[in-house]
Amino acid sequence: MRTTTLGAEGPQVGRIGLGCMGMSWAYTEADRDDAASIKVIHRALDLGVTLIDTADAYGPYSNEQLVGRALRDRRDRAVLATKVGLIPDGARQLHRNARPEYIRGAIEGSLARLGVDHIDLYQLHRVDPAVPLAESWGALAELVKQGKVRAIGLSEATLDEIREAQAIHPVASVQSELSLWTRGQLDDVVPYTEEQGIAFLPFSPLGRGFLTGAITSAADLPEGDMRRQLPRFQGEAFDANQALVTKVRAVAERVGATPGQVALAWVVAQGRYVVPIPGTKRLRYLEENAAAGDLELPADALAELDALPPAVGDRYGSFAGASNTSSSSTGSTGSK
Ligand SMILES: NC(=O)c1ccc[n+]([C@@H]2O[C@H](COP(=O)([O-])OP(=O)(O)OC[C@H]3O[C@@H](n4cnc5c(N)ncnc54)[C@H](OP(=O)(O)O)[C@@H]3O)[C@@H](O)[C@H]2O)c1
Repeated sequence: MRTTTLGAEGPQVGRIGLGCMGMSWAYTEADRDDAASIKVIHRALDLGVTLIDTADAYGPYSNEQLVGRALRDRRDRAVLATKVGLIPDGARQLHRNARPEYIRGAIEGSLARLGVDHIDLYQLHRVDPAVPLAESWGALAELVKQGKVRAIGLSEATLDEIREAQAIHPVASVQSELSLWTRGQLDDVVPYTEEQGIAFLPFSPLGRGFLTGAITSAADLPEGDMRRQLPRFQGEAFDANQALVTKVRAVAERVGATPGQVALAWVVAQGRYVVPIPGTKRLRYLEENAAAGDLELPADALAELDALPPAVGDRYGSFAGASNTSSSSTGSTGSK
């Protein structure tokens, strides 16, 4: 598959990465199978999908262990990315903690679970409003000096936060939601990352599966699947959003691809250093998604996709505590 680098200075990576969250956490426990997930990770590397993304919060902890098992005999073929700073409690509520002393302890846990002597990309899962960013970022920069991590990144950070961090120590990457139905990052963050040579890693690039066209009714989602609580997957919003899929499908038919591949190829086209990390635990989906790394959409298709109407419904709605809470309060569980 086509490659780029992880930002201007980073290692080479395939244009499509792999998000491992769903192998152990969100959205549903249905069909989770560690052995199958390990095969997916192995196949990913064979296909050139080399950026492998996890987080200590996924499971919690079991996703890092799974990724570590998968990479045991092929560590050098992956660009291994994990995250720190979101902690689920027993009730699956997420708490932020980006205190330096917490980060210094958490890295040891991640290295041990992953079974590696260094992490290629260590990302702050969320800025913690209770801790000055300079302190969290300084602690992360210290880990680079110590050789425990090669580079550090941010997730769901604002442009001001990214600039602030960049002034202290190079920001290698920003991981935030970007897809055909969530395009806010294109306004300011993506242009800044492109200008600065920072990698941008879109999460949920398939709209949590919606943009593939595989979810034709909210009833397709198993009981307990957190997407049932998200506004875009509910009632009239769900139906209205099917119009987006219809348009993506029409483009897909014209270019001889699947809707999911078109959704990914559009994301890839947003910048030189944009590397989406679609999540899957299935070989079939992985292979389909990987092939999108070689799909170059013609200008008229890109223009048509750019002109799609916005999605109906918020990203999180009342579920949104997840994205906007401080370490001293709780957020909601789900996919982060
Ligand atoms: N930094 C953050 O706060 C944050 C937040 C969310 C996610 N993430 C990262 O981003 C990654 C991806 O995000 P995501 O999992 O939320 O959303 P996504 O990649 O947009 O969608 C994943 C969903 O789509 C399904 N899917 C994948 N490929 C498909 C295909 N070709 N055809 C049909 N369905 C397909 C998956 O099914 P199966 O699982 O059944 O294969 C899963 O249900 C995560 O794994 C995680 O690493 C980060």
